[in-house]
Amino acid sequence: MTAKKRNILVTSALPYANGEIHIGHLVEYLQTDIWVRFQKLRGNNCRYFCADDTHGTAITISARKKGITEEEFIDGVSRSHRADFAAFGIEFDNYGSTNSPETRAFCVEIWDAIRKAGLVEEREIKQLYDPVAQTFLADRFVKGTCPKCGKTDQYGDSCDCGAVYSPTDLIDPVSTLSNTTPELRAATHLFVEIERCREFLDDWVTNSGALQPEIVNYLKGQFLSDALWPWDVSRPAPYFGFEIPDSPGNYWYVWFDAPIGYMGSTMQWCKKHGEDVAFWWKNPDTEIHHFIGKDICYFHTLFWPAMLKSAGYTLPTKVHIHGFLTVNGEKMSKSRGTFILARTYLNHLNPSYLRYFFATKTSPRVDDLDLNFEEMEAKINADLVGNIVNLASRSAKFAAVTGLGDAYPEDGGLFRQAADVSEEIAAAYEERDYGKALRHILECGYRANKFFEDAAPWAIRKELAALEADPAADPAARDAAFKRLQDVATVSVNLFRQIIVYLTPILPDLTKQTEELLGCKIASWSDVNEPLLGKKIGTYKHMMTRVPKEGIEAMIEETKNLNKPADAAPAEQPAAPEEAAAPEVAVSDDQWKDSGQPLLDEPMSDMITIDDFLKVDLRVGRIVEAEQVAEARKLLKLKISLGGTETRQVFAGIKAAYPEPEKLVGRLVVFVANLQPRKMKFGLSEGMVVASGPGGPDVFLTFPDEGAKPGMRLH
Ligand code: MSP
Ligand code: ZN
Repeated sequence: MTAKKRNILVTSALPYANGEIHIGHLVEYLQTDIWVRFQKLRGNNCRYFCADDTHGTAITISARKKGITEEEFIDGVSRSHRADFAAFGIEFDNYGSTNSPETRAFCVEIWDAIRKAGLVEEREIKQLYDPVAQTFLADRFVKGTCPKCGKTDQYGDSCDCGAVYSPTDLIDPVSTLSNTTPELRAATHLFVEIERCREFLDDWVTNSGALQPEIVNYLKGQFLSDALWPWDVSRPAPYFGFEIPDSPGNYWYVWFDAPIGYMGSTMQWCKKHGEDVAFWWKNPDTEIHHFIGKDICYFHTLFWPAMLKSAGYTLPTKVHIHGFLTVNGEKMSKSRGTFILARTYLNHLNPSYLRYFFATKTSPRVDDLDLNFEEMEAKINADLVGNIVNLASRSAKFAAVTGLGDAYPEDGGLFRQAADVSEEIAAAYEERDYGKALRHILECGYRANKFFEDAAPWAIRKELAALEADPAADPAARDAAFKRLQDVATVSVNLFRQIIVYLTPILPDLTKQTEELLGCKIASWSDVNEPLLGKKIGTYKHMMTRVPKEGIEAMIEETKNLNKPADAAPAEQPAAPEEAAAPEVAVSDDQWKDSGQPLLDEPMSDMITIDDFLKVDLRVGRIVEAEQVAEARKLLKLKISLGGTETRQVFAGIKAAYPEPEKLVGRLVVFVANLQPRKMKFGLSEGMVVASGPGGPDVFLTFPDEGAKPGMRLH
């Protein structure tokens, strides 16, 4: 039974860095984590690599909205993604970023290879350009009417009807950045002529065995039946990504470097562990498994194999494609409170519930899967808590009294029977049919519970207690009762332990608790074959409660509240490039007491007379309105009251420093009142508020002391 150790590289799709992890994502990361844990438990040399997908226009826009750089933005997102994954027990061997030197190096190498293979062509194309936002528009920033079916409000690349087209085909296109009509502009783009890989792709799709049958049919029907379109892999500046070395001013489109991020992440791990990256990516003895959702199948099953092939890398052994999550039978929705963030879930429910429930729903097919909260509650309460955890709590109580016997007792073949389904369960895991694996595991649980009930250890315990309390009782009878009780405990605990070995990939926390209880590690899948004997057992500590109904309700409520003000996806919110205007803040240097740095940064000005100073009319003002200027990276719009009915409007470059402008309302500020009004892109600015600091998040408004009244002059 010592099968050869397999080398298995596993990836999940790299989550976009422009949003938080939500329960839809978790469908993928949980099923991959389960698969990886299974492979490791089987003793295979398996590694799980992932990274944030950090490039593209959407990132720039999200960063601008927050008034920070793209790098700062993706760093913050990376921290939050990692924390969410860790909380759900998703354990990567390395979690990187596509914005890494490792990924860039592979991009250069693969690009050279596809250039050499004669796959790249340069062409001038007309692309939609938003003159207000001053940027070329990525497909998803254009909406309009579908050229095929006439449906309105469709994205630039595809329609709900299934049609795929280019944004210039849209009827009545509108830029979602500025809500204006974009214009067509010419730009040079680089294309990968993927049709030149046709022979390889036809063969690979049909014969490699890497793809599910329904995916093979889909690719053949939708794509391979016609000439494959050249793939546009470059974007002109400005673009957050890697500049193409032999085409300055052009950047690789985010989808070019995204899958290469798998390699970049592998490389980071290899550097840490002194391994050769070629062992994982250029080795016929290493399997490569990608887990992805059906929405990104095209990239992973056509472009990616073509790139790998051209650059001489190993082709995927298997692309495991899953369907989409619906909640209570419908698409996840912000307003219904079912677009649930990982973080929100964690605030209310045990992550093991979701690991378990998604596992019951995981199959090797591409069908969508539904999270129905009643079903989830019922399954967890009845099967996981009622069947399995209950077996532990009942039997551990007796095992704590007797310990485990030295020899495994007669159990009517139950232990053997559970060990015998080991390969069937393993095959189900291997096939990603976790639902099937669980059905087998639950069967083991039912049989074990039935054994326990038939053996009625509580009655034996009573009998034993009576014998122990009776000084005249026959010691042999007492020993016999003890032995009978110990036998029941030994059998039930061992049947439970087998179940936990099988469940380990799905419920690693339950395994940890069991290890503590048994004082013994669950180290390998083959642990199911050897009973645990001659051991004392710890006291049972509570393992898992039933699903709290109020937790589900509170989670949905919180989700609704999170989405109250803006129910829009990031792409739908208007945002635009940095405004040209300088920040409307007079900078003084009164904030630092300890360091000489500020004076070095900004040396003192020349002397002035008191008359010079008095020319500046400084007044106490009260902020009566404060709001973000959505299209501006740095600006808040403030309304300043100078007392009575006198108010002034100012645009202040303090957005990054005061991300919650509503908190400024009511505060007094120092206001430069006689500054010539200035017309800005967003309106008239009629003065300045006084502040200090170098800029960005480090700007500090100057607040007058208690007692000052709006309109008072500073002198
Ligand atoms: N960044 C790309 C992937 C690049 S891989 C080289 C991307 N990111 S994503 O954040 O949108 O999605 C990451 C993965 O989560 C994808 O495989 C996607 O299919 C999956 N899911 C996102 N939402 C999902 C559901 N609602 N349901 C199931 N899976 C979902 O695509
Ligand atoms: Zn359509």
